[in-house]
Amino acid sequence: MVTFDHVYMAYPTHAEGWALEDLSFSIQPGEMIFLLGESGAGKTTVLKLITLEERPSHGEVHAAGFCSETISRGEIPHLRRRCGMVFQDFRLIKDKTIFENVAYCLRMTGTLERSVITRAVARVLQGVGIYGKRNRFPHELSGGEKQRAAIGRALIHEPPLLLTDEPTGNLDKATGLEIMSLLARFHLAGTTLLVASHNVEFAQRFATRMLTLRAGKLVEDLFLRPHGTEVY
Ligand SMILES: Nc1ncnc2c1ncn2[C@@H]1O[C@H](COP(=O)(O)OP(=O)(O)O)[C@@H](O)[C@H]1O
Ligand SMILES: [Mg+2]
Repeated sequence: MVTFDHVYMAYPTHAEGWALEDLSFSIQPGEMIFLLGESGAGKTTVLKLITLEERPSHGEVHAAGFCSETISRGEIPHLRRRCGMVFQDFRLIKDKTIFENVAYCLRMTGTLERSVITRAVARVLQGVGIYGKRNRFPHELSGGEKQRAAIGRALIHEPPLLLTDEPTGNLDKATGLEIMSLLARFHLAGTTLLVASHNVEFAQRFATRMLTLRAGKLVEDLFLRPHGTEVY
């Protein structure tokens, strides 16, 4: 469902050279992949290349049936609907309630009927366990709750692939474990997951596969267990 084919990525202002260098790998449906690496290794860049927030300097990224070389501008929203993204800093809209944050994504993509929106938003917020807080604003939620809201929003279009950037990075250990368990539930229910993280402990517990980046290069690709046999 995702293939990186000899991808190189250089940011124009990045002095150290390649942010990613000759990266090739594929993601199969049903995997729960941890993308590991120290800060600056290139994890976020990989996620941004999948959603085409950034374009590769060389090589091709294939995702959700689209190719980075041939995709048209008009197709990018379709790509993003099929690859849900949870950003490290949540990116919730500050002056909208949690309900409105999620509903906004549906409206943006053309769903306008109130009852349809209400039902769909209720379903995802129940799924992530914060339906009771739907009328609060982001600043009225804890870090874990904000993360749940961001996951709910990413799932509103029922994407087959969910990308999460350091989902436990800003949380204490217990809350981080709750969030990982939530993601694991969605994985068991059929969503393919790519989790950028530097938490090896969570990776060993939850991942079906670990990809490790070092200074923009893939240095390890480790299959831990077949899909569907996670030990939670
Ligand atoms: N917008 C940007 N402009 C210039 N350099 C960037 C930008 N984003 C990331 N980089 C650089 O690219 C490298 C990889 O960054 P990133 O993908 O954010 O790593 P990670 O998510 O693993 O911490 C780093 O050296 C970082 O400084
Ligand atoms: Mg990052």
